[in-house]
Amino acid sequence: MLRTHTCGDLRKDHFDQSVTLCGWVDKYRDHGGGVFVDLRDRYGVTQVVFDPSSGLVEEAARLRSEYVVKVTGTVSERPQGMANSKLATGAIEVRATELEVLNASETPPFQPNQSELPGEDTRLKFRYLDLRRSAMQDILLLRSRIIKAMRDHFDEHGFIDVETPILGRSTPEGARDYLVPSRVHNGTFYALPQSPQLYKQILMIAGYDRYIQVARCFRDEDLRADRQPEFTQLDMEMSFVDTDDVIGIIDSLVAKLAKDILGIEVTLPLPRMTYDEAMCRFGHDAPDLRFGMELIDCTSIAKETAFRVFRGVADSGGFVRGIRAEGAASQYSRKKIDELTDFVKEDFGAKGLAWFRVEDDGSLWSPIAKNLEPEVLKKISERMEAEPGDLLLFIADSWEVSCKSLAALRKRLGAELNLYDSDQMHCSWIVEFPMFDWDDEGKRWVAMHHPFTAPRLQDMPLLDDDPGKCRARAYDLVINGYEAGGGTIRIHDQGEQSRVFELLGMDTESARERFGFLLDALKLGAPPHGGIALGIDRFVMLFAKLDNIRDCIAFPKTQRATDMMTEAPGSVDNVQLEELGIRLVRKQQNTDT
Ligand code: AMO
Ligand code: AMP
Repeated sequence: MLRTHTCGDLRKDHFDQSVTLCGWVDKYRDHGGGVFVDLRDRYGVTQVVFDPSSGLVEEAARLRSEYVVKVTGTVSERPQGMANSKLATGAIEVRATELEVLNASETPPFQPNQSELPGEDTRLKFRYLDLRRSAMQDILLLRSRIIKAMRDHFDEHGFIDVETPILGRSTPEGARDYLVPSRVHNGTFYALPQSPQLYKQILMIAGYDRYIQVARCFRDEDLRADRQPEFTQLDMEMSFVDTDDVIGIIDSLVAKLAKDILGIEVTLPLPRMTYDEAMCRFGHDAPDLRFGMELIDCTSIAKETAFRVFRGVADSGGFVRGIRAEGAASQYSRKKIDELTDFVKEDFGAKGLAWFRVEDDGSLWSPIAKNLEPEVLKKISERMEAEPGDLLLFIADSWEVSCKSLAALRKRLGAELNLYDSDQMHCSWIVEFPMFDWDDEGKRWVAMHHPFTAPRLQDMPLLDDDPGKCRARAYDLVINGYEAGGGTIRIHDQGEQSRVFELLGMDTESARERFGFLLDALKLGAPPHGGIALGIDRFVMLFAKLDNIRDCIAFPKTQRATDMMTEAPGSVDNVQLEELGIRLVRKQQNTDT
């Protein structure tokens, strides 16, 4: 070892000991008489003093930020009044007797200790400098602790860790695949796994009973602040179980993590809400339950007015729903409400935003109030339980648009009005999702989770009669408005699986072509089974109280799926392409992709 201690180790107990530290020059100050260097490694910072008696002042004066050095010296008490109580090593300093520069550094594009961070592109390009920051190190340590706690939990419950292939066949999870061309079989492709879904089901059929894996998943989809093209799941599967068993194991894991990491006591069992209830009350299947502001349906009242915006929608099968922002009227000027209107129109396809301010006498004021009959205004006020000072916001539209717009408004207002304590953690389950979503463009049903999800037993007849009404044995774990995990009980009957493929528009031939191995396995002794996958990056984001998933990953991709540091994806040699039998066809440069 080049060192005797780390830069976070030394305390008063070490007085007078001779020690050797290695680390990076964090700060240096040349005080005429001597040079002071803050030496940093991932464990902490130690002040090193080069005083004239050391004979090292001249050499030390040449040190610059981020030089990597090895210093030997004696641990001493800091002079009276110079102790730094904010620093773990703040009672001591090391009086240097030897200095070795292990490696010099050019002037870095930014310094890990600078208070104002550079733009994210610079942080990602020089990720090794960014990762030297203690804030980033704390996050990666937290990530490591979370993964260890998850592994320990499943180990205690008898799960075994099995690795599944990265080069495989496409497993549909609703995104595009990343493809890898085969050299040996020209013209064919592996797909990187969107999840290990089918392998874990096959492991259940193989009798492994309880499986986990810290699994890397790859999905070529539109990226958002909480999504990465390559991310990590804690993937698990169990045999001979029902929803309650899977949920129970995750409940106790979430409680353990909340207690160990945040010191929060979570009451178990975690609350459950059906998908239908979540959409009615919050307009979203991953509602943030740290605050109220529920959606209130005023469609029946809208049928009583002559105001065409409300009446027209209500009479044609649409919905008029609103939210009440308590006491918020004074905080939302006309200009701010115009911004909210643009927000729902541009991002969620709403046709407009109707709003009312509740006056001191309880009456509703709005530019559209004159279009609404006094009786109707009164009923709206009552239904909304309006109080003076409140702001009421309404969307008249289809169910989908009203859900999306109001959920987004609720989320935005919740943050803008500080309606929740950011230290709070609200975990719940959303259950009984629909089996299928209707894809209007493709004119077909698509699986809401994935095609291997079992319907509720009582809904089996609906597979034939009314697939849209069929509810799945599916469950999502929602934490503070984020989907932190999702899973289902699987179909273990071959006939049922074939029926679902058929409903999803796959004829027998293409079902066999893509999933023949699964259909065969289901005929050879498949036990009832189910499981879940937790999004580890999202767990870290939530436990670290961040809102950007990139900060939770050592080497993340940008919003455009590139790695700023290595500049992946990159072009490849013509020789490589030739071996793969691939000829490139240049696409017209599209400026927005
Ligand atoms: P699902 O697709 O719901 O389920 O994924 C499980 C969890 O993984 C996280 N997640 C993501 N995290 C970061 N970036 C992404 N692009 C991303 N996509 C998903 C979410 C999500 O809840 N095979 C099923 C699981 C199962 O049925 O057992 C699956 O992958 O937190
Ligand atoms: P218009 O007659 O379209 O100008 O709309 C009158 C008012 O109603 C404006 O304040 C619009 O923002 C609002 N509005 C229009 N359409 C809708 C809608 N579908 N839902 C809620 N408010 C709307």
